[in-house]
Amino acid sequence: MHRPIFISATNTDVGKTTMALKLAQLYNDKGIKTLLTKPIETGINTQEKSDADLFLETNQQIDPDLILDDISFYRYVLAASPFVATRFEPHLPLIEFKYIEKRLKTLQERCDLLIIEGVGGLLVPLDEKVRIVDLALYLKAKLLLVSGSKLGMLNDLLLNLHYLSANKIPCQIAINMLDNRAYYQTSKPYVDYLNNNLKEPILVFQEQQDLLLNRLLES
Ligand code: GTP
Ligand code: MG
Repeated sequence: MHRPIFISATNTDVGKTTMALKLAQLYNDKGIKTLLTKPIETGINTQEKSDADLFLETNQQIDPDLILDDISFYRYVLAASPFVATRFEPHLPLIEFKYIEKRLKTLQERCDLLIIEGVGGLLVPLDEKVRIVDLALYLKAKLLLVSGSKLGMLNDLLLNLHYLSANKIPCQIAINMLDNRAYYQTSKPYVDYLNNNLKEPILVFQEQQDLLLNRLLES
C-alpha cells in the first residue's frame, strides 16, 4: 500500500480535481488500484456535479459498491472556505481530523493508493485553528501542489514556495498548463530559472506526467 497523495493548490480553481481524475486514471491503467476522495467540500448545491460526485463516478469503475458518504464526509452548501461555510450550517458536526483519518483508513483498505483532494488553496482556513495544509500534514500524506499557468501564477507560486520552505514542508509541484503558448510566453522563463535552484524541479503536468507519477510514488 502506498502513502496517500494529498492534492492542494496555489489557489482555488487551478485544476486539483482535473489533475486528480487524470492521475487516478493513469495509476489505475498501470494496475495500481487508486481511489479518489474529497473529505471536505463546500459549494455543493450548484448545477454542476460536485468534485466528490465526479470522484464517485470514477471510483465506481474500480469499486461499484462505493457511495458518496464513503468518500466525502463534511459537505457544505456555501461556496466559501470551510471557516465561513460552516457558520451557515452550525447544526452540522465540527470538522475533526481524527474522524477524517478514521474514514480514510477504511477507504485505504479498499485500494492500493488513495488520492485526497483538499479545498481551495494551501492556507484555506477550516476553523480558528487549522488550515487545509494542516490536514495534509496530520494525515502524513505526500503533498502535491497544483499551480495555475495563467498570468499571475508566478506570484501565487512564489508565495506558496515561501510558505513551504519556511515551514520545511516537502512537496511536489505540478503546473496545470491550460494554454501552452500563454504559459511559455508569460511564465516559463521564470519557472526555468527557479528550477535551477530547486532540488525537486517544478513539473508541467501535461509534459511530464510519467515523471510526476513516479516521483509521487517514490517520495
Ligand atoms: P476547486 O476544487 O473549486 O478549488 O477547483 P480545482 O482546483 O479542483 O479546479 P478544477 O479541476 O475544478 O478546474 C477548474 C476549472 O478549470 C474547471 O472548469 C475545469 O474544467 C477547468 N480546467 C482545469 N484544468 C483544465 C485543463 O487542463 N483544460 C481545460 N480545458 N480546462 C481545465
Ligand atoms: Mg476541485
